[in-house]
Amino acid sequence: MNAQVAEITTDREAQVAEQIRALGEWFHNINIAGVHTAPEHFLGDFPRVKWERFKDAIPADLRGRSVLDIGCNGGFYSIEMKRRGADPVLGIDFDERYLAQAQFAADALGLDIEFRKLSVYDVHKLREQFDVVLFLGVFYHLRHPLLALDLVHEHVSRDLFVFQSLQRGSDELEPVADDYGFWDTEIFERPGFPKMFFIEKRYAGDSTNWWIPNRAGVEAMLRSAGFEILEHPEDEVFVCRCRPLNGHGQSTCSFAGTITNDEQL
Ligand SMILES: C[S@@+](CC[C@H](N)C(=O)[O-])C[C@H]1O[C@@H](n2cnc3c(N)ncnc32)[C@H](O)[C@@H]1O
Repeated sequence: MNAQVAEITTDREAQVAEQIRALGEWFHNINIAGVHTAPEHFLGDFPRVKWERFKDAIPADLRGRSVLDIGCNGGFYSIEMKRRGADPVLGIDFDERYLAQAQFAADALGLDIEFRKLSVYDVHKLREQFDVVLFLGVFYHLRHPLLALDLVHEHVSRDLFVFQSLQRGSDELEPVADDYGFWDTEIFERPGFPKMFFIEKRYAGDSTNWWIPNRAGVEAMLRSAGFEILEHPEDEVFVCRCRPLNGHGQSTCSFAGTITNDEQL
């Protein structure tokens, strides 16, 4: 009997391993029936190693809360949200190969998660807001990152917003003044002044690494887009609350649907 069970397990593992292989190269390492999807990841057991460092900053019980995972990739974070009881969980990405991986992983793990092909620039098409929005590892891959942040704030974020970006430069934070004089050029040399580096060609061999902010830059942009930073549990991760924007003629969090900035002025 035991030998039979062992054989069945081996068959199942072999079948899963074959399906994982057929879905191409994985960026997310997920354990599916004892088989790992990306065991050779250059960052180790990724993104679990990162998740372990910030998972306690997100409610352990997400029952009754909806989640949108933007740039969901192979579905690791969508899966973790579902395991915490979130419903519905929607993962979006513009890469069909990753979406197929995510759908396979969720189905194989018996988790009801929807994955849809959608760019972050098109989130208004969802016509829905979510209690928790994950925006992890996507910001710096965008040519228009602030536009994306504004669109997420305006159209899909209702309450918690979890943000992660690659960061370079100083970790220092300079107090932000209300205004700076035209001749005040020295501030730009300060390490803690908000900055974002533009990558014209490639960074780490990746031509989609367009912008890399320092920590002050991340915090300033989050605030400017209407996200109040609640926690900074990991070097690159910020847990925020979506707040109404005031003073800049932009959106409020309570609105669900597409309107232009002009209509709100
Ligand atoms: C570095 S991976 C991060 C994956 C995952 N969120 C994480 O933190 O591990 C970036 C993901 O964002 C997706 N992506 C890039 N630009 C996008 C866009 N405009 N709209 C939706 N997804 C995008 C990529 O296809 C990729 O899956």
